[in-house]
Amino acid sequence: MPWGHCQFFLLDPDGNRLRFAPLIERGRSAHHRLPDFAHGMNGAIEHRPLGVVCLRPQPTRSTRMSKVYTVAVLVGSLRKASINRKLALALADLAPESLKLEIVEVGDLPLYDEDIDGPSAPTQYLRFRDQLKAADALLFVSPEYNRSIPAPLKNAIDVGSRPYGQSAFSGKPGAVITASPGAMGGFGSNHHIRQCMVFLDVPLMQQPEAYLGGAATLFDEKGKPSEGVRPFLQKFIDTYAGWVERHAGGR
Ligand SMILES: Cc1cc2nc3c(=O)[nH]c(=O)nc-3n(C[C@H](O)[C@H](O)[C@H](O)COP(=O)(O)O)c2cc1C
Repeated sequence: MPWGHCQFFLLDPDGNRLRFAPLIERGRSAHHRLPDFAHGMNGAIEHRPLGVVCLRPQPTRSTRMSKVYTVAVLVGSLRKASINRKLALALADLAPESLKLEIVEVGDLPLYDEDIDGPSAPTQYLRFRDQLKAADALLFVSPEYNRSIPAPLKNAIDVGSRPYGQSAFSGKPGAVITASPGAMGGFGSNHHIRQCMVFLDVPLMQQPEAYLGGAATLFDEKGKPSEGVRPFLQKFIDTYAGWVERHAGGR
């Protein structure tokens, strides 16, 4: 916990806050050296005889509750043995506690057609939009088809973006990771997804860029990532967790 987020109290030997003790905040007290003195205590409660200053960092309102963010994961491949679905599940496994990854299915969405949209839109459109709206963040996990976005995922992006002015994507922090057995790791699809997200006002994590080439051998039959790729996936999802924390609720 950074000291800027801590408050310091005088405690009695039982760890109770003294009634008359002033609340000491960093930089606002004659005891300005206290935070330095306390450095290394690592948040532990220290019980000392009365008269000795004991410090117990208290989380302020902004850090007291650690929120769990729901992430809507859109997978660009429909096939059962999809490498990208394995990748999405591996990321869900590796995700820190602050993220809950949920795959939102895109395969049943009718091709987007403005004529059938509106108040009597297909139930699949409504279900999909509701799931996106309920999520705090977005994660795109996709192959590339012909150097671009696979049609089911592009269709899902179009469905989620409408009706005009009611996009379910707007303002939600996102990230893109692509995987392909080929050498380029789905670069074309990755950047076409990014192009759509610029228009849809989705703040996308820039680094690390994630194009997994040679992906046919990166996961075993059960979807477990190889030791070689696992550290990168861990770094990706951990960095993304920080990105979500910084940008969720920013609309
Ligand atoms: C219609 C189609 C187009 C494809 N185009 C590309 C491509 O442009 N670049 C590429 O690396 N792989 C391409 N592939 C191969 C896919 O990357 C490969 O099938 C991959 O396994 C699909 O991802 P998945 O395993 O998650 O289903 C294409 C596959 C299909 C079916």
